Amino acid sequence: MKNNLIAWDIAETDFPSQGSIKDKLKFLIGYAILAPSGHNTQPWLFKLSEYSIRIFADRTRALPVIDPDDRELIISCGAALCNILVSSKYFGMNLDVKYFPVDGDMDLLAELSYTGETERTELDEKPFGAIVKRHTNRLPFAEQEIDGLILQKFETIASEEKVTLKVVYNEEIKEEIIKLIEKGDRLQAQNKSFCRELAQWVHPNRSNTSDGIPGYAFGMGDLISYTGPFFIGNLDWGNIQAGRDRNLVVGSPVLGVFESNDDKPEDWIAVGVALERLLLTAASEGIAASYLNQPVEVPELKEQLKNILKINGYPQLIMRLGYGKEVKPTPRRNIEDVILKDS
Ligand SMILES: Cc1cc2nc3c(=O)[nH]c(=O)nc-3n(C[C@H](O)[C@H](O)[C@H](O)COP(=O)(O)O)c2cc1C
Repeated sequence: MKNNLIAWDIAETDFPSQGSIKDKLKFLIGYAILAPSGHNTQPWLFKLSEYSIRIFADRTRALPVIDPDDRELIISCGAALCNILVSSKYFGMNLDVKYFPVDGDMDLLAELSYTGETERTELDEKPFGAIVKRHTNRLPFAEQEIDGLILQKFETIASEEKVTLKVVYNEEIKEEIIKLIEKGDRLQAQNKSFCRELAQWVHPNRSNTSDGIPGYAFGMGDLISYTGPFFIGNLDWGNIQAGRDRNLVVGSPVLGVFESNDDKPEDWIAVGVALERLLLTAASEGIAASYLNQPVEVPELKEQLKNILKINGYPQLIMRLGYGKEVKPTPRRNIEDVILKDS
């Protein structure tokens, strides 16, 4: 396993069951960093204390063009937080969560405090086992429907986190959303700042970087992946991407759109927790997902999306869900690099 992929080799048998609470909490951070994040920026930092983990937004890893309000950045941190909660339950540790525990400190997103032991139940096993299996899958999906009961489970997960998942299978609505995605692709490709930002985070397959997206995650072979950043940064790839996204969506059984009631950092964390819970449940059922967020990221398309979906809230993420072939994991930073030093 390459060094920058080693984080995925985490073994539950290495859990320090004889160690201190702090040692155990540190082990959980190994699962947090496997969460998805926009452009794989991994925009999180953790501060460990004897009995707690504090999660900070690392705004030095922001994406000011695609994500000017750090909305997706905070969603990503919510996903990392979810992995801590899922793995803590698996290892029988009860954590109490306080969001924005220090008034006025919007970088300190949450404090997770150990409150004692808890019994692991069977329900804790599948999502935990899925943390290392979940990968964003941008390849075509098989022609296989997703069972209605599973989709209902996804909707329930969202509502438990106080957000909404709109599942779209109606072909006409899907077609309207596809048109928005295509428009979004063309607009993003024409935006030089967007292209430069993306190009900085896309790397050749053999790169040793511990963040960003390797070309293989977009289906690029080794040779082509060397030209990927140049292509993204310098050529007008809007039509190509639009055609590709159209095919991907047409070939996916459903789209899922996360919606929140408000559009504040606390809503974004909730979306992140719901997203990762959904993705883990999906992965445990062999279902993969990838994102088509263009209509949420390009402001002029957002209103149109709301009209198409007839929603009053705030659309946050658009995903396609389905059954796909296995894909490779993407790099992660070492946990020592995301733990604040004086802890
Ligand atoms: C909030 C958020 C937004 C994302 N947006 C996109 C997107 O618009 N397009 C895309 O291809 N991937 C998107 N991703 C997926 C990330 O690129 C992916 O999680 C990251 O590269 C790490 O890879 P992994 O999910 O396979 O571990 C998004 C992920 C998150 C959490």
